[in-house]
Amino acid sequence: MGDFSERMMDILNYGALNLAMGIGYKNQLFDILEDFDKPVTILEIVSASGLNRRYLKEWLGIMVTGNIIEISDGQDGEAQYFLPPEHACFLTRKSGSNNLGVYTQEIPLLTSCAMESVNRGFKTGDGIPFSQYPDFQHFMAELSNAKHKEVLIEHFLPSVANGTLLPCLLSGIRVCDFGCGQGIALNLMAQAFPKSKFTGIDNHREAILTALAGADKMELSNTEYLELDAATINGKKEFMQRFDYVCAFDAIHDQSHPLEALKGIRNMLSPGGMFSMIDIKASSDPADNLDHPMGAFLYTVSLMHCMPIGLNDNGTGLGMMWGREQAKAMLLEAGFDHVEVIEMEHDGFNLHYLSRV
Ligand SMILES: C[S@@+](CC[C@H](N)C(=O)[O-])C[C@H]1O[C@@H](n2cnc3c(N)ncnc32)[C@H](O)[C@@H]1O
Repeated sequence: MGDFSERMMDILNYGALNLAMGIGYKNQLFDILEDFDKPVTILEIVSASGLNRRYLKEWLGIMVTGNIIEISDGQDGEAQYFLPPEHACFLTRKSGSNNLGVYTQEIPLLTSCAMESVNRGFKTGDGIPFSQYPDFQHFMAELSNAKHKEVLIEHFLPSVANGTLLPCLLSGIRVCDFGCGQGIALNLMAQAFPKSKFTGIDNHREAILTALAGADKMELSNTEYLELDAATINGKKEFMQRFDYVCAFDAIHDQSHPLEALKGIRNMLSPGGMFSMIDIKASSDPADNLDHPMGAFLYTVSLMHCMPIGLNDNGTGLGMMWGREQAKAMLLEAGFDHVEVIEMEHDGFNLHYLSRV
């Protein structure tokens, strides 16, 4: 009993810390403290950030008692604050694919968008419309930037199908990013492989417009973006065998009709084509996720977003933790002949389901 009461205190402290760290991340405070690279006074943080001293003082109190930032006395006895480099390297925008700081914003963001609706959903079983998460696409783009900038071109694509995809991308193939969001991954791929042609599909208009603006800014001439509901693609003649390679990053589990979407992808592929589905690494059975290092966090993100989004339009409501067994079974049901489930060295959060026609 004593042990559990201590754990409860940890839970309350860590929950609070997550919220405060999310606020700090959004206000670039970890980046500012990393740039100082030495202990600094609150006034120095005020002048570098332009933020209010009183709010900063309270926030620093949380960071210090939470052991994120160190406090010491300066020569004149005034408090000084220091973000140790071994913390900074997981918290700032410079941390690239090690950036866990970006995730501290996720639960606060989803809570502010959906708390009331989720409470209601427990009684009604209703889904929550995507429009209720106005900042979600921007947050996803931040996550994608953190994930894809270092990893996608240098590590992931060269690893696909034991290195056999890379020469095809270099010599020129037709690629689709399914559920492309703001096009971070697609634009990076298009820039790296100018002889290939890239199509992004998403049903979120603002995301598509942002993706188009990104492609313009990068002066890409080998991209197109289509605003489309993934579930409507299956059976459309113009999509039959249109692509040699399709990828979907974190974009299948929150579809309302994922099986239809997967059937659409299956039929979009040319003979010999491949589909990379990158989706959360978990088991379909919660009892097998007891050792999952982020299990409670990911189920919570799912409860607050992925599952209710997937329930819209009489949807399946798979949720983010649909897991390996269910994912593999659905890919086979959609008509893929062969599905390989691959662990990725550079990405402990996800699995790579490589499916072939
Ligand atoms: C979690 S986000 C991932 C975005 C992007 N692939 C990334 O990694 O940043 C899922 C994306 O799927 C899109 N999506 C959800 N349901 C869809 C549907 N029925 N048709 C097309 N896109 C859909 C959403 O708009 C969103 O951009």
